[in-house]
Amino acid sequence: MTRSASPAAANARRVYIKSFGCQMNVYDSQRMADVAGQEGYAETDRIEDADLVVLNTCHIRERASEKIYSELGKIRELKQARAAEGRETTLVVAGCVAQAEGREILRRQPAVDLVVGPQNYHRLPDLIARARRERVVDTEFPLEDKFDLLPVASREAVRARGVTAFVTVQEGCDKFCSFCVVPYTRGAESSRPSSKVLDEIARLADAGAREFTLLGQNVNAYHGLDESGRATDLAGLLQRAAEIPGVLRLRYATSHPLDMNEALIQAHADNDRLAPYLHLPIQSGSDRILDRMNRRHTAKDYLSIVDRVRAKNPNIAFSSDFIVGFPGETDAEFQATLDLVDEVGFASAYAFKYSARPGTPAAEAEDAVAEAVKVERHAILFERLEALRLAFNHATVGQIFGVVFDKPGRHEGQLIGRSPFMQAVNATVPADRIGEMVDVEIVEVKPNSLRGQLVAAA
Ligand code: SAH
Ligand code: SF4
Ligand code: F3S
Repeated sequence: MTRSASPAAANARRVYIKSFGCQMNVYDSQRMADVAGQEGYAETDRIEDADLVVLNTCHIRERASEKIYSELGKIRELKQARAAEGRETTLVVAGCVAQAEGREILRRQPAVDLVVGPQNYHRLPDLIARARRERVVDTEFPLEDKFDLLPVASREAVRARGVTAFVTVQEGCDKFCSFCVVPYTRGAESSRPSSKVLDEIARLADAGAREFTLLGQNVNAYHGLDESGRATDLAGLLQRAAEIPGVLRLRYATSHPLDMNEALIQAHADNDRLAPYLHLPIQSGSDRILDRMNRRHTAKDYLSIVDRVRAKNPNIAFSSDFIVGFPGETDAEFQATLDLVDEVGFASAYAFKYSARPGTPAAEAEDAVAEAVKVERHAILFERLEALRLAFNHATVGQIFGVVFDKPGRHEGQLIGRSPFMQAVNATVPADRIGEMVDVEIVEVKPNSLRGQLVAAA
């Protein structure tokens, strides 16, 4: 068979990476792309062209986890088709399903060559080389810090990723909520040293990144050491990040109510780069369910945090995560969740049906809620959250705020960016203003975005 591509392009090896799950996986996928780049693989968004295929997986709910196997089934066929043309494909399963299921993945899908857990991405060059000869599993929690060994992104890679950037500052979780797999898939909580995080932000900013989200499974538990060996909290880290030239806006996710310290609450008044937006999962409005979830706080504790943050910054928008149909949840307890939703008035929030996960304490419960009840409660909560989201969006009409435009929108001449409150904003703005903080007046609410108008400089 003859191929039309130039000989150089035909020889170049390519990597295709697909991310599932949370933003931390998106960040990890970028770091894996950087590793692959160093090994001579160019990134492609066409899986058929890829010599190396990586699925970065999520284990949080059963459906997320099972989706991986149907995805792998399709890739197996692709791999066979490529093999018939004499082209090899190395198939890698990374992420939280890899960590949780390890060797089981090799058993269920013979086309998989390598299973690698989130703590071992710095070993990928060696693992990929081995995976060409034998099937490999690496789900150890190594002693070395992968961040010290992962290559840094090239300026071209940073530019290609746009002006919004993720930076993981903290990984793992010690909270052990009774429903959650994260403490098992991501391991014990640990924070990167603040100087390393700040260096990474400075490097990204120097290459053109402008809006930064600091990430962690429990980001506000951050306690990385600074140059003098003292622990820095998240508020301190955000303050130093705000001083880096080029950093226009900062966000952080995801937080736990127990770690909302006074300094972080105060940062929402003092740090002028920090977006007035807080994603703070509560999961349920019922104290008995919160206790069974091992969240270690009450609904009242949560409401008091909301009040304290609002006292510092009345404009702040709240977002959250909810689980409906946790074992034993009664109608009255579900109603308590709805009451809390109304009381806080979330700008946006996610509702999930409880999914029993192997190895978690809640999965042992004998009072599971019937699927039909979960479906009904999910629909009711979703509708309530959607109404609040739309009301919040409508309330921004007529307001003026700064948007860092990121990329061209769907229509000619339009750019798209995010409002301080995470809403997508489209506006007719000259393309050379990508990466600037531009003042925009919101003029219209669309189903999934806002339309803005450039405010002429006075
Ligand atoms: N670290 C974050 C979020 C972790 S996972 C936190 O502490 O909030 C993201 C969300 O998935 C959780 O907030 C929770 O709402 C949901 N989730 C986690 N485990 C789940 C399960 N077993 N079933 C349904 N939803 C779940
Ligand atoms: Fe999971 Fe709870 Fe840790 Fe969040 S705080 S990652 S929900 S165990
Ligand atoms: Fe999923 Fe792992 Fe993130 S389980 S939500 S990808 S930490």
